[in-house]
Amino acid sequence: MTAQSREDAEEGAGASGRATLPLNQQTERLCNKTSICSRSYFVVVMVFFHVYIVNVIALLFYVHYNSAQEDDSRSRDTRDTDPSNVNSRDAPSKVLHQRDFSLPRIEGIRVGHVQKVSLTPGKDHLMRTLSMKPLLFEIPEFLSEDECQVVMQLAHLKGLMESQLMVQRDHEELVKELNLSPEEIFNLLDVNQDEQLQMTEILTHSRVRDGIWLTPDTLREIYAGLKADKNGDGLLSIEEFRLLSSDAFQRFLQQKGVKKSQLVRNSRHTWLYQGEGAHKVLQDIKERVIRLTRLPSALVDLSEPLQVVRYEEGGHYHAHHDSGPVYPETACTHTRLAVNTSTPFETSCRYITVLFYLNSVEGGGETAFPVADNRTYDEVSLIQNDVDLLDTRKNCDKSNLRVKPKKGTAVFWYNYLSDGKGWVGEQDEYALHGGCVVTHGTKWVANKWINVDPDYQRQTRYQQLVSQQPDHTDEDDTSTVSSDAHSSSLHQDL
Ligand SMILES: *[C@@H]1O[C@H](CO)[C@@H](O)[C@H](O)[C@H]1NC(C)=O
Ligand SMILES: *[C@@H]1O[C@H](CO)[C@@H](O)[C@H](O)[C@H]1NC(C)=O
Repeated sequence: MTAQSREDAEEGAGASGRATLPLNQQTERLCNKTSICSRSYFVVVMVFFHVYIVNVIALLFYVHYNSAQEDDSRSRDTRDTDPSNVNSRDAPSKVLHQRDFSLPRIEGIRVGHVQKVSLTPGKDHLMRTLSMKPLLFEIPEFLSEDECQVVMQLAHLKGLMESQLMVQRDHEELVKELNLSPEEIFNLLDVNQDEQLQMTEILTHSRVRDGIWLTPDTLREIYAGLKADKNGDGLLSIEEFRLLSSDAFQRFLQQKGVKKSQLVRNSRHTWLYQGEGAHKVLQDIKERVIRLTRLPSALVDLSEPLQVVRYEEGGHYHAHHDSGPVYPETACTHTRLAVNTSTPFETSCRYITVLFYLNSVEGGGETAFPVADNRTYDEVSLIQNDVDLLDTRKNCDKSNLRVKPKKGTAVFWYNYLSDGKGWVGEQDEYALHGGCVVTHGTKWVANKWINVDPDYQRQTRYQQLVSQQPDHTDEDDTSTVSSDAHSSSLHQDL
């Protein structure tokens, strides 16, 4: 074997040795023929070469100076928004001058990147990047065991309510307001314009009817119950679609009765105020969130209270966005109270979601991000061959990313992209997420949403107005009202 390979090696060396000579001869012949080695040719090549080098050097200088400027402005921002320097009275006025303010955004670098963050005195936390789309981080031991216990107890004392979402009413009012005929609705739903409605087309547009999560199976059942699909091919023609009026739909669902497992979310929740006078643990958590996100404390103070959610065995929350897309005619729930608008659309504007795991779940209950870091995103591709990626009861295993609940761990992500000018940009569609079904035990989580209006002027006016209010009880009232509005409008975007 060894002898063989030595022979091969020798042969190889021999071969290359033999090859050198003819190659030289070849080049000489080439030089003679095409005068490639002529003086003018050499000059031309050298000129190109020098121009190229000068270009590269210029580019390097450009990049260097640009990033130095960026670093400069970034360090200025951090100083401006360092929570230890900013007190909540100053921050709104700072936000007023957009020129010197940009909303901090943590860099993810790459998936798996770990950075140290200083959240509590005398202890460093490690923050790992879980995905770039959305920009998603995990921080183990964000809360101590005792803190988790306190939050669960406080929520228990306050009492948790069913988290059923009654979105349908909004939706129906909107349809009435727009005064669309069945033909118009049919045309809107018929994405591929084949004059038939596939189940996917119906589900992509609205997976939720009366708080019920529609699956292809439920839809088939409804078609059969209403005798809507006469020829039974699973497709609706315009005539068949007319039979499927929303009244009939609703009556059918009522007659059948609804199981909890069919709801959009099957959980109980409550809200805990974190402002002055609140339990120390709740205030501490808020302070840590401010340090983590590097946002001005005023923004965090004026956001929704802490939401605590409990899922029993069998509980779930189908995948959704915490925030809606923002169009010029959309108003944010949190600023709408302060800004006089009469826009037909309202949505939650939650720049950041911080999700805390208050216990380690015995089985299931992962947080699933179906399209995290997917190469592309297309709403229509979420349902294929009866597999709905948003269905966390059935298809969590097909999600791109799943986070296992671990007591004390926090994850946080941005629901919006940057607009490139230091403010909130478009909704990040990749931020889709849901709670997988709990197969064993109970799951406790808390959510801290940080509200920022993508319309900079509206956010500023809102902050001005609220900071002018004389006492804190008013602030408290405002945030509670807004949070309730939030919970009801949470799912309208699906
Ligand atoms: C909002 O604006 C409308 C018309 O512009 C006005 O009639 C109404 O009084 C305003 N409401 C508030 C609370 O300012
Ligand atoms: C995820 O990316 C793949 C590859 O680009 C694409 O085929 C698929 O449709 C994407 N999924 C969604 C839901 O857009």
